[in-house]
Amino acid sequence: MMPPASRAAVSPAFDVERVRADFPILRRLVHGKPLVYLDNAATTQKPQAVLDSLTRYYTDSNANVHRGVHLLSQLATDEYEGAREKIRAYFNAGSVQEIVYTRNSTEGINLVAHVFGAARVRAGDEVLISAMEHHSNIVPWQMLCERSGARLRVAPIDDRGELLLDEFEALVGPRTRIVAVAHMSNALGTINPVADIVRIAHAEGAAVLLDGSQAAYHMPVDVRALDCDFYVATGHKLYGPTGIGVLYGKKALLEELPPFMGGGDMIRSVTFERSTWNELPHKFEAGTPDIAGAIGLGTALDYITSIGLAEICQYEQELLAYATQVVSDVPGVQLIGTARRKASVVSFVLDGVHPHDVGTVVDREGIAIRTGHHCAQPVMDRFGVPATARASLAMYNTREDVDALGRALRRVREVFA
Ligand SMILES: Cc1ncc(COP(=O)(O)O)c(C=O)c1O
Repeated sequence: MMPPASRAAVSPAFDVERVRADFPILRRLVHGKPLVYLDNAATTQKPQAVLDSLTRYYTDSNANVHRGVHLLSQLATDEYEGAREKIRAYFNAGSVQEIVYTRNSTEGINLVAHVFGAARVRAGDEVLISAMEHHSNIVPWQMLCERSGARLRVAPIDDRGELLLDEFEALVGPRTRIVAVAHMSNALGTINPVADIVRIAHAEGAAVLLDGSQAAYHMPVDVRALDCDFYVATGHKLYGPTGIGVLYGKKALLEELPPFMGGGDMIRSVTFERSTWNELPHKFEAGTPDIAGAIGLGTALDYITSIGLAEICQYEQELLAYATQVVSDVPGVQLIGTARRKASVVSFVLDGVHPHDVGTVVDREGIAIRTGHHCAQPVMDRFGVPATARASLAMYNTREDVDALGRALRRVREVFA
């Protein structure tokens, strides 16, 4: 085993051993071997602080929010709304009224496709996405186009997995109502030029939704600097619980749009003739929310901030460069996704071995990677492969994890020789 100093050698400012000690699951064995968790793009592991905050909430302050004058309801409401302020600060939104709780990114995108679609998208209009989107940033727009008679347009990517910005620009026109693009691709790791995308779209009067599911835990995100109209993120990738997500929307736009689901908490008044809507952001939050999830997400963001997102970003960039080298040194490997601006994802195929078999052999070594189409089948089609194997990094991964993957991939080659 490498000494701690060399494990952390890629970025001396960042103490990976201290970080690892905060994640209890990293101490478990898998098939008798120490867990090497490299499936972070699917979901990240949770620090003890997040686990403790969930237990503490249910132990000490569980009650419904926005409903009672009793102490527990006030405590629960304070913590739940306090987490919203933490999310606002994390994304540098101007107001907590712009932060809508959702279940996950998928729900955030569906919400926008429904309410923005109902208000602004008509037959003959266009919705523009890119060729590297996750299914959850494709299908809701397809459904909107079917409902409205609008047309779905797709901006192409090149062989590195980079968006072709000129072609993207050529596709933005007076009929474009909304552009929906990943800030960072889950299948390729590509970081998109989102500031340019927003500028180009706004010049034609189109709104922009950025899918920050991947970007939000790898790099600082400033929604005001980006000037995007909507930004979605998902708690379980941000080291928080499952079942909680975030939709940022510009206040003026959210004010103008109709509600998504009807029910409790989203109303101001109800009669059988007519209902009126609650103020932002509650207008978009029908029913009892995932209170514990929101509080846990707030704690997760505190945790990330205490480590420092800029430090995490630098550490992961250095680790990505190392992982890219180690994986491409394995004979027969072809990388899928070699964009110049990338984060934390190494997607690849191994000559003559199905990715599923790669994943199975590697799992026996205690190493978790993802194999399949990564909910991005059009990306697989673009690169002419049915699936890839994907190793994805997070702040607690080490060079030793990457070395273990390199050894396991050589073992895969021996098994299938
Ligand atoms: C780029 C991207 N968009 C959207 C999603 C959907 O996230 P969720 O399933 O949490 O809604 C994911 C999840 O992998 C993703 O990577």
